[in-house]
Amino acid sequence: MRRPIIVANWKMNTTLAEAEILLTAYKNQLRHYKNIDIVVCPPCIWLAPMAENLSRNLIHLKLGAQNVYFEDKGAYTGEISVRMLKNIAQYVIIGHSERRKYFNETIIDTVKKINTVLNAGLTPIVCLGEQSKMMRSRRNLIFKELEIIFKHIKNTDFEKIIIAYEPVWAIGTGRAATGAYSAEVISKMREIIAQQASEKIAQNIRILYGGSVESKNISEFIGQPAIDGVLVGGASLKIREFTKICEIINHRA
Ligand code: PGA
Repeated sequence: MRRPIIVANWKMNTTLAEAEILLTAYKNQLRHYKNIDIVVCPPCIWLAPMAENLSRNLIHLKLGAQNVYFEDKGAYTGEISVRMLKNIAQYVIIGHSERRKYFNETIIDTVKKINTVLNAGLTPIVCLGEQSKMMRSRRNLIFKELEIIFKHIKNTDFEKIIIAYEPVWAIGTGRAATGAYSAEVISKMREIIAQQASEKIAQNIRILYGGSVESKNISEFIGQPAIDGVLVGGASLKIREFTKICEIINHRA
């Protein structure tokens, strides 16, 4: 049985004061939802104070970074490395479509980052998704990228990655994909993983859906056995919305 996981991507939102208020609300509201893993990804500058604020006994509430650079250290102005994240965060979001769109990240960057994160003992949450709803054939690009990723990571690392299927057209638009559509893509992803790795790994790997997830559409996704959780952007900044999402998933788990 794959354990459900919910990733809260706060993106470039919150001042330190706002982040502390939100995290405190997460701790209070979500502490009983122990059937699920919850990964909070605040802006990286707030990771250290957030790590201080998280109490040790909330083991199902973890921290993640929204990005990382693939070099270990050196003259890379403005970047952060896994060495800096290591004792603060446990997860790192990699290859988010906003990184690809605004910062020209490529699949090669994504592969390098995945390996850097794995080598540091952290868990990569790798985002893959097609650009346009109209061009279903564009989904082939996701499957190609998945093949590239599996070709370039060690067999022993296969099961350590988490994948987030995030159709770009659904992110931040209020127009989520349907559960059936997402489950179809995710099942195809598992077929490719089975070919590249093994059936066992394909069945063990956790694959999430992301894109305009809200409390009113969460049942769509969580009702699909192929989908192991969600990556939530906008709704993760609204405590009541996010609590409802977690409550529904925890209840089903
Ligand atoms: P959204 O963001 O929930 O605001 O659509 C999702 C994401 O960034 O993956």
